[in-house]
Amino acid sequence: MKILVITGSAHKKGTSSYLADSFIRGAEEAGHEVFRFDAAFKNVHPCVGCDSCQKGSRACVFKDDMQELNPELLKADAVVFVSPIYYYDINAQIKAVIDRFYANNSALKGADKKAVLMITYGDETEESAEGAAASYKGMVKYLEWKDAGIVSAKACYVLDDILDSEYPKQAYELGKNL
Ligand SMILES: Cc1cc2nc3c(=O)[nH]c(=O)nc-3n(C[C@H](O)[C@H](O)[C@H](O)COP(=O)(O)O)c2cc1C
Repeated sequence: MKILVITGSAHKKGTSSYLADSFIRGAEEAGHEVFRFDAAFKNVHPCVGCDSCQKGSRACVFKDDMQELNPELLKADAVVFVSPIYYYDINAQIKAVIDRFYANNSALKGADKKAVLMITYGDETEESAEGAAASYKGMVKYLEWKDAGIVSAKACYVLDDILDSEYPKQAYELGKNL
């Protein structure tokens, strides 16, 4: 299976990156091929809704790092979204990537893909992640993909918190058994 992992955090040694690493380890051990796109270190302009991609050339006006991501997105059998929670939602870096899916909307909608969400946050209640989980579920339903699981890592402010938690194992198992 070809798996695309999209991360949002700028913390190379942060909580969500650690979850991504754990997931990838499991997936690669199971023989899957993984492509990782760390959005915080890429140049991705936010969608401006100009609709150019829906008419004429059918291409996005922004020639940026989405050109690297798009072929991987189209051929992926599974797409994994990994983000810290910023103000009760996924962060802007990963949201910018998702909004740019619009240029390939007709190819993505109804495609046979699995999806995974992995989120990390400091609060001790899952309420803080409800918004992110709801928009992920809405997107997956709209795109007609299959939700393969959510890892919601509460009380994980910094790396040490997640190292002591059950979440890296959850991420690893999800990668291994996707
Ligand atoms: C701008 C910003 C907003 C945040 N908002 C929340 C929040 O709403 N709820 C929460 O529990 N933690 C919040 N946090 C804490 C992060 O979610 C938490 O530290 C997370 O582990 C960071 O992940 P990372 O190390 O992968 O970047 C916020 C952190 C930042 C920098």
